[in-house]
Amino acid sequence: MKKFPKLKSKIILAPMHDTTNLAFRLMCKEYGAALVSTELLSANAIAKNNKAVLRLAVTDKSEKPNVIQLFSQNTSMLVKAAKRLEKDFDIIDFNIGCPSERIMQQGSGGALLRRKNKIKEIVKKVSSAIKIPFTVKMRVGFDRDNSLEIAKICEEQGASAITIHARTVLQGYSGHSDWEIIKKIKQNLKIPVIGNGDIWNGADAKKMLEETGCDYVMVGRAAIGNPFIFKAINHFLETGEVITQNKDERISDYFEYIKLAKKFKIFNLFDAKTKAQEFTKGFEGSSKFRKELNTAKSFGVIKKLLQEF
Ligand SMILES: Cc1cc2nc3c(=O)[nH]c(=O)nc-3n(C[C@H](O)[C@H](O)[C@H](O)COP(=O)(O)O)c2cc1C
Repeated sequence: MKKFPKLKSKIILAPMHDTTNLAFRLMCKEYGAALVSTELLSANAIAKNNKAVLRLAVTDKSEKPNVIQLFSQNTSMLVKAAKRLEKDFDIIDFNIGCPSERIMQQGSGGALLRRKNKIKEIVKKVSSAIKIPFTVKMRVGFDRDNSLEIAKICEEQGASAITIHARTVLQGYSGHSDWEIIKKIKQNLKIPVIGNGDIWNGADAKKMLEETGCDYVMVGRAAIGNPFIFKAINHFLETGEVITQNKDERISDYFEYIKLAKKFKIFNLFDAKTKAQEFTKGFEGSSKFRKELNTAKSFGVIKKLLQEF
């Protein structure tokens, strides 16, 4: 087992499809995220040198320690992809929780939670094939909680850390992340445990750290359109004080994001629109703004709308 690095803060950005690209990750990092990760990427595609997927694996030294998340149910493809990626990344994370039909139809993501022997084989083979930490991000089970058994298998087979989103796959986002399960896993494992699910602010993060004893907390939905959340949570953990951003500050972050996206050549109009919606969500006038944004045919129009917003 390769040791998971000691991180500079307690708060980690969750991998999110179509969200955590390099520009977004760097902003979260700048605001104090301890660790950031790519979205889940197909190990099969990477092993087969698929250029479109490899473009999503673009990274930069300023985001180090850097993490790439993979999905697959094919052990040899995972080994091949992991060996190819280990020179560019510090950690390879394996997804066994994604509830998306597209992923589960392939027997990957959350579907693997029903196949503990397959998980055992994958974690053993991949973690021993590479020199960098191999971590696992899981939900608590497919339709019921069998997380402790799976988490222990992962630890025994060489995983360096476990992230647990404490819902079943079938739950989707309904109900709550059951932090009692995170606590139980932390009490029974030696490797770092990263708690995940339903962290919206500093008070939630503090509560999860205290109630579960987990080593780190991972934030997903609350970071969408709001990289500043990492500064706010870290500040709350240090001082107990709540800090927020005003509309102008948030819009200025949006333009910073666009600058980075252009710098790393990942800018596209669709993403610029989506992010404009996300970064303005919750501020006064945002629904009217969203309607106008839908018709924007160039970045110049988005810029103008934001200046008027
Ligand atoms: C838009 C979106 C995309 C996601 N994509 C991924 C992904 O690529 N890989 C992954 O492991 N989890 C993915 N997740 C799940 C999150 O990483 C996280 O586990 C989940 O949202 C619970 O955390 P939260 O309550 O802080 O949002 C995604 C979630 C959202 C909302």
